[in-house]
Amino acid sequence: MSKVQRLRAARPRRLRGVLALDDLEPLARRHLPRPVFGYIRSGSETDFSMTDNRAAFADYGFVTRVLQDVSGRTLRTDILGESYDAPFGIAPMGMSALAAYRGDLELAAAASEANVPMIVSGSSLIRLEEIRAAAPKAWFQAYLPGDAGKIEALVDRVARAGFEVLVLTVDTPTRANRESNIRTGFTTPLKPGLRLAWDGICRPRWTVGTLARTLLLHGMPHFENSFAHRGAPIIARNVERDFSKRDHLNWTHFDAIRAQWKGRLLLKGVSSVEDAVSARARGADGVILSNHGGRQLDGTISPLRVLERSRDAVGDWPLMMDGGIRRGTDVMKALALGADFVFVGRPFLYAASLAGRAGVAYAIRILADEVERNMGLIGIRKPAEMNRDLLVRVC
Ligand SMILES: Cc1cc2nc3c(=O)[nH]c(=O)nc-3n(C[C@H](O)[C@H](O)[C@H](O)COP(=O)(O)O)c2cc1C
Repeated sequence: MSKVQRLRAARPRRLRGVLALDDLEPLARRHLPRPVFGYIRSGSETDFSMTDNRAAFADYGFVTRVLQDVSGRTLRTDILGESYDAPFGIAPMGMSALAAYRGDLELAAAASEANVPMIVSGSSLIRLEEIRAAAPKAWFQAYLPGDAGKIEALVDRVARAGFEVLVLTVDTPTRANRESNIRTGFTTPLKPGLRLAWDGICRPRWTVGTLARTLLLHGMPHFENSFAHRGAPIIARNVERDFSKRDHLNWTHFDAIRAQWKGRLLLKGVSSVEDAVSARARGADGVILSNHGGRQLDGTISPLRVLERSRDAVGDWPLMMDGGIRRGTDVMKALALGADFVFVGRPFLYAASLAGRAGVAYAIRILADEVERNMGLIGIRKPAEMNRDLLVRVC
């Protein structure tokens, strides 16, 4: 029995009634100020990709195998030379410490305790060195400008901090059009004003427990990990975040990073089979198929829909995905179509905002329990046994 299963993470009182990951969103909507909740929940433009990320799973149904002796099931999954206690991890999410007190640390610590990977976002608000010290198995995700000097300095900083897996997110050459952020008044940095103050008054628990506590104990949060040096503050009237030169980033920069970075190197935000093949040919250690949770180019294909073809094209090589995974059955479908591993975003951040580390631990347990139960019902004993024969396209 795996550590995740043994770790019967207690259900925090605030998560009473939460039986599935989808139960977290309505609670978080009531807990978080409108702009912060909207920032997490939103997709871009029409939300087509975000919606399709969920819809894609309904296109497939299981074929179960009976009389298989499914006792002794284990969730243990090996990826990138490490052994984890579940076939899923926590996707990188920027500004987690705005939604949850010390959010990145809470997510990283809960993941570490459950022995699943958590990817630290390049837009996080806590210094990467501090997160790495608290969670030595965390991975780091970078947003890079197409500027060789800045890239080299950041990659050097990440290596010195001791990270072993570097994830380059490559689906952000320009800023996305998230109209819902404009409607709810969300900007980065946040602009102080009457509207923000009113949002805070309406959500006193978040205002006191997350915002005021952070400001009092740690000062104004900054984007700590976008570059080798400190970035912009999170609340500022006149400061602009530096997104410059992200549109210059190209495969030549990737080759230079590959030469510099001695650890495992992944690309995240890949949606074409051709790019997955190029990544492999140029020495990446794997890709995370992703449309950024439907938050970048609206209309980008759901990662689930390119999994099978990507697997056929790259052969036996680490292929991961994220987007819309909310159930153990979603994990099983992704594994059947060729994923070695999957990541989940929003629900874990909602859990952190509502109940900190204990909330994240409980959310991990919900998903792990579902996967474990599903393996038994499908007729397999470990995640790696999922295969295409156990899934059919139903529409
Ligand atoms: C609030 C939020 C912030 C995010 N920030 C980042 C980020 O900093 N870097 C990144 O590569 N992806 C980021 N993403 C995308 C996630 O890593 C992931 O691809 C996506 O959330 C998966 O979809 P899901 O939320 O439906 O599980 C963010 C997603 C959300 C919801």
